[in-house]
Amino acid sequence: MNLIYKKNKLIQEKADAYVISIFNNQKTFSSDLKSIDIKLKKKLTALLKSGDIKTEIGKITTINLLGEFNAKQLFIVGLGDEKKITIDNLRTQIASVCRTINNFKLTSAAFDISNLLINSQKKNDAIHAIAEAIGLSQYQFTKHKTHAKDKPITINDVTFHGISHINLKTIDKLIKQGLIFAQAANLTKDLANEPANYMTPSKLAEIALDIADKHSLQCEIINKNAAKELKMGSYLSVASGSNEEPKFIILKYQHKEATNKPVAIVGKGITFDTGGISLKPSAGMDEMKGDMSGAATVLGVMQAIGELKPKLNIIGIAPCTENMPGGKATKPGDVVYAMDGQSIEVLNTDAEGRLVLADALSYAVKEKSSAIIDIATLTGAMTVSLGSVRTGVFSNNDKLFEKLVSASTKANEPIWRFPLDEAYGKMIVSNVADIKNVGEREAGSITAAKFLEKFIGNTPWIHMDIAGVMTVKQSKGEWSKGMSGNPVRTLVHLLLSY
Ligand code: BES
Ligand code: ZN
Ligand code: ZN
Repeated sequence: MNLIYKKNKLIQEKADAYVISIFNNQKTFSSDLKSIDIKLKKKLTALLKSGDIKTEIGKITTINLLGEFNAKQLFIVGLGDEKKITIDNLRTQIASVCRTINNFKLTSAAFDISNLLINSQKKNDAIHAIAEAIGLSQYQFTKHKTHAKDKPITINDVTFHGISHINLKTIDKLIKQGLIFAQAANLTKDLANEPANYMTPSKLAEIALDIADKHSLQCEIINKNAAKELKMGSYLSVASGSNEEPKFIILKYQHKEATNKPVAIVGKGITFDTGGISLKPSAGMDEMKGDMSGAATVLGVMQAIGELKPKLNIIGIAPCTENMPGGKATKPGDVVYAMDGQSIEVLNTDAEGRLVLADALSYAVKEKSSAIIDIATLTGAMTVSLGSVRTGVFSNNDKLFEKLVSASTKANEPIWRFPLDEAYGKMIVSNVADIKNVGEREAGSITAAKFLEKFIGNTPWIHMDIAGVMTVKQSKGEWSKGMSGNPVRTLVHLLLSY
């Protein structure tokens, strides 16, 4: 998608669609809207008076420009009360109008964004959010549709008009940045939406190598034998029932001027979770192709980091494998050893995410990470507690958690913090090993987090359980149906704020 700022007036631009926003009781039209109104012999003024142009937030009025203009169609986006508008509203409304433009099968759009710049202090955030919204809204997973009629017609060319008082270089940078955020999230969605017969651990490793190649990152793939040598017994116990080679992916971004010990981003990469010998029921099992959303998040974040190049050292870790029942699969009651030497009694092979993360977190600790953030579709119980609205977050460090709160606010990917009392830790003490991989049914998300905590030592740590927010049921605003790409943008904001 091409997205650029142009100095010319909107009505001089040739595009399929013009997009102009309007507030409730707006005293005067923006200068672009005024020009159109004059050419239409004040028809817009009349339509506004009669209430046919709606100014409430969420309303979009479509006006056919009947060949008199450089555009076919005018879209007027209602933004409601000017005093109440937020960056989040803006992102959603811009994404919505893009979806409306898609319904008209138009492929280029010119935006008058003079109205959208809220107040001066938030101008930069607004430009970022608008570019991000356009990028996010155009995402659809149609790779396996073979008929042309099922392929989407999306917006390819976008121009912005009507910005004053901002340095052109800054505008350009903000537009690029917004698009980079959207494209990172869209990459994550693509990886997670791809069926598990295509998106195998080997395929993920190949994509990680490509990202490294494109953005000068270092990439190391630890295969099965190397993982054995590193004594990753917990991770390998999940892979043992599958014919697919497990791949433990490491992506390193190092900035010349950065002196920090790396911040580690660790993502659960189960390319398909059947449950293993503790087999899942068949209804809805297809969703478990998304059980590598944590790993996909790591790849999306590392792509954005490779493009934005912050002064920071970052290590992305994605332990990838299938979880299958098979002749060599781990059985309930088996005891396995994690890389750091701790023994684990596997009482339920469907609680496999924490098993692969045990070794991935140990690996991050061994790399002397200054902070560790893990992202995992870890527990169905998280869907029960928070639904698909907020990500459940656990942390041993208030400062790091506060950083995450402000990043998640910027991205509008809400989170909620859960407790880590030691009383929950008691629920996973094993009779035969150091710990067991499941507690009783109660507090399932918290006991899972307590399990992970055993592997992070004293490192400042955040665990994000994204099981609930993994999928979007219906396309709306910036969110497209399918795998969500949540919380890629939050994590990129977090890393940039370091
Ligand atoms: N991948 C699942 C969790 C999940 C469920 C993610 C729904 C996304 C949507 C995880 O591996 C799992 O199966 N967890 C078990 C844990 C239980 C056996 C303690 C669960 O939640 O049932
Ligand atoms: Zn599972
Ligand atoms: Zn799983």
